[in-house]
Amino acid sequence: MAESIISVAYDHPGCSTASAWARKAREPDPQEKAVLIARIKRLLREQDAVLVAHYYVHPDLQDLAEQTGGIVSDSLDMANFGHRHPAKTIVVAGVRFMGETAKILNPEKRVLMPDLEAECSLDLGCPADEFSAFCDAHPERSVVVYANTSAAVKARADWMVTSSIALPVVKHLMEQGKKILWAPDRHLGAYVQEQTGADMLLWQGACVVHDEYKAQELIALKAQYPGCIVLVHPESPRAVIQLADVVGSTTQLINAARNTDAKVFIVATDNGILHKMRTLCPDKLFLEAPTAGAGANCTSCSHCPWMAMNGLINLAQVLETGTNEIVVDPAIIPRAVLPIQRMLDFARQISLPTSGIGNA
Ligand code: 13P
Ligand code: SF4
Repeated sequence: MAESIISVAYDHPGCSTASAWARKAREPDPQEKAVLIARIKRLLREQDAVLVAHYYVHPDLQDLAEQTGGIVSDSLDMANFGHRHPAKTIVVAGVRFMGETAKILNPEKRVLMPDLEAECSLDLGCPADEFSAFCDAHPERSVVVYANTSAAVKARADWMVTSSIALPVVKHLMEQGKKILWAPDRHLGAYVQEQTGADMLLWQGACVVHDEYKAQELIALKAQYPGCIVLVHPESPRAVIQLADVVGSTTQLINAARNTDAKVFIVATDNGILHKMRTLCPDKLFLEAPTAGAGANCTSCSHCPWMAMNGLINLAQVLETGTNEIVVDPAIIPRAVLPIQRMLDFARQISLPTSGIGNA
């Protein structure tokens, strides 16, 4: 039986969704939007830059990334794509750990972000010094960290994983008889532990978005749509995961929506993903999984406040001015790149399908 120890009491420490929401990117009016899009396209060309976007950012940014030869994808594919693309500048429309991962993999390139304060509650909830002490207390364990962590935390890890590759990596380590120290997402960690039977110690972080999905309300919504399919990101609580027909990364959930015959889907992940799902499957109905209900304390309501900081206006500004460059301490990079590169090599070795969704 796998052992599980709660490392720290957790209540989204240090993370204020209210101050994040206050920085939400302003939406330009349609005329301003057309001018901005044309300006960004020109700047990307002039600056030899590529736009790498996550499915949770505003649809305008997702479309722009695809229209300009960039990518919209999950965090694994974002890292892969930026690493392989020849552009001298990578512009990451997402959150800070995604920009840092791009910089760690490409220290010679310039990595820009529309807003450098676009954080992540998982990253904020796993300070490097406390995490390091946790690792020191368990030196016999292989340290596996989720991508949603700082460069300093990655530098302490043996492996980095994203949600699309966490299960195969942990199975691989189990086969080698390894015990695992996992951080920071407690729900994803518990899911991986349950699926693999691995011996895992879990850091007790959580995502402010996925933590809010409610099982009872999901059961009620399901009952209204007989035959519907429930798609769940594994950062969601266990009771919600148990109601899922498909559990997976953002790319894996989109693939499931595309490849399943059902007409109605309930989606338990950030609602930014609905843009891609609805574009790819215009004849299907996609509903947000409920975040309200008994005991609800909804502060993010199915959308990440940090992803919402990315917009056309600040994207154009950073391309024009070169501000908001990601800087990672050069002393950390040689150590932090190891767990990331290990994951990318492993993904290639097991031929983990990458998305290319909508980019083909
Ligand atoms: P994916 O790797 O599935 O895109 O997830 C990233 C993330 O931050 C989910 O909240
Ligand atoms: Fe982090 Fe959650 Fe936002 Fe993803 S959705 S970036 S895990 S806070």
